[in-house]
Amino acid sequence: MNDLFETQQQVWDPLEAVNGSDQEILTAAKKREIKNILKSYVGTYDPMSELIQNAMDAVERRQTAGATFSPKLIIKIDLCENSFQVVDNGVGFTRDQFRAFIAPNISFKREATTRGNKGVGATYIGYGFNHLEIRTRNSEFKFQGQFRNGREWVEDTSGTIHRPQVEVTTSHDVIFDQIDQGSSFKIRFGGKNTRPLNLNWYQATTPEQWLYLLLLKTPLGYLNLENGVVSAVAFDLIVVDATGNELSSRDCAAKYKYPHEEIKASQRLSDVKTAQFQAVERGKDPSAAIDKFRNSNGIYEFYKPKDVLSFVRTLSAEEAESVESYNVHAYGYFVYSTSVWDHLNDTKAELRKGYRVLRGGLQMANNSMAQGDLITIPLSKNIGHQNQTHVVVHFSGAEPDLGRKGFQPELRTLS
Ligand SMILES: Nc1ncnc2c1ncn2[C@@H]1O[C@H](COP(=O)(O)OP(=O)(O)OP(=O)(O)O)[C@@H](O)[C@H]1O
Ligand SMILES: [Mg+2]
Repeated sequence: MNDLFETQQQVWDPLEAVNGSDQEILTAAKKREIKNILKSYVGTYDPMSELIQNAMDAVERRQTAGATFSPKLIIKIDLCENSFQVVDNGVGFTRDQFRAFIAPNISFKREATTRGNKGVGATYIGYGFNHLEIRTRNSEFKFQGQFRNGREWVEDTSGTIHRPQVEVTTSHDVIFDQIDQGSSFKIRFGGKNTRPLNLNWYQATTPEQWLYLLLLKTPLGYLNLENGVVSAVAFDLIVVDATGNELSSRDCAAKYKYPHEEIKASQRLSDVKTAQFQAVERGKDPSAAIDKFRNSNGIYEFYKPKDVLSFVRTLSAEEAESVESYNVHAYGYFVYSTSVWDHLNDTKAELRKGYRVLRGGLQMANNSMAQGDLITIPLSKNIGHQNQTHVVVHFSGAEPDLGRKGFQPELRTLS
């Protein structure tokens, strides 16, 4: 009976054994693995964010390596072509890295400070869409090519679509040709189950309009609630509108679009409080002292971890500990009327009518990047206030789940 359990080998590694399986089984497993990664991406700005994140990491890694150069990103949105391109003058790739980086769960970043390190961003870019152009150049390695029909292969259940391959192309790209070294990635959107389907949807046709979207929704909106230091990375933004007309904004600063910098007559809460205290000290009427603040549109404040702890009194012991360990900083803007958001979106930014890119809600952020869509602020009293308050809660070193879907539930509750 015993020999029923006998195998040739007494010890083996299942992760290696899997390589001996049938090719069909292996392909199906890879497809499943990739599908799971794609499923973890739910936001419309995810492809832009992943490309920008990798580009920012690439220029910062070149800086860390001691190079003297001006870290730069060039972003081109082509509404004719329905494409989004990010060019960076960062580290580029080695040949071996380049051959593997689109594969699931491959990452070459070991630094704790990089934005990415899960190795799924490039998989999503490659297999989440159907048209990716890739260019890279440094002193060791250069390549220009394309990766087509990634998404179609993933979605195909009939087995008729071939597994996509990276192919060499000879075409040139004027922006990429200008940088001394670095990489360029361009996604052309469109196709079943892909999002965004069409970049014209936002009705943003100028660089200024795209800044509203990109600085609020992608890592270009570098967030530093701790000391306000801005990112060293500058970027150019080029927009080609549907008629082929090209407009650009040069040397833009990578910085979050704080509502108080966009909405005129915004008051800082601490200034209001200081005015009141000073009046009391001088024996004057504190409410008269703040008359000059009365005709404002809204009020804002920045909060350090100690402020968060003293301000939110209902925190559990674990939550209080998380505030410390994740170095939680926050920012809040309260508008006196939600028509201020409407005005900003429809009249000032002139974005798609009714599309509120800046509005009340909770924006979670980690390591200087806003992550995911705005969450409705769960208020039990004064429900209207949830639409009036734009809150950013920033963590350091909180690993959001795979992809960009979200944070651990404890951290969400804490925010
Ligand atoms: N623009 C780029 N310049 C240089 N290397 C890049 C660039 N984009 C991607 N890479 C390399 O490809 C690897 C895989 O990228 P990918 O986005 O999948 O993973 P990641 O950035 O390490 O982690 P995450 O999944 O969190 O984004 C990176 O670790 C990096 O080494
Ligand atoms: Mg990445």
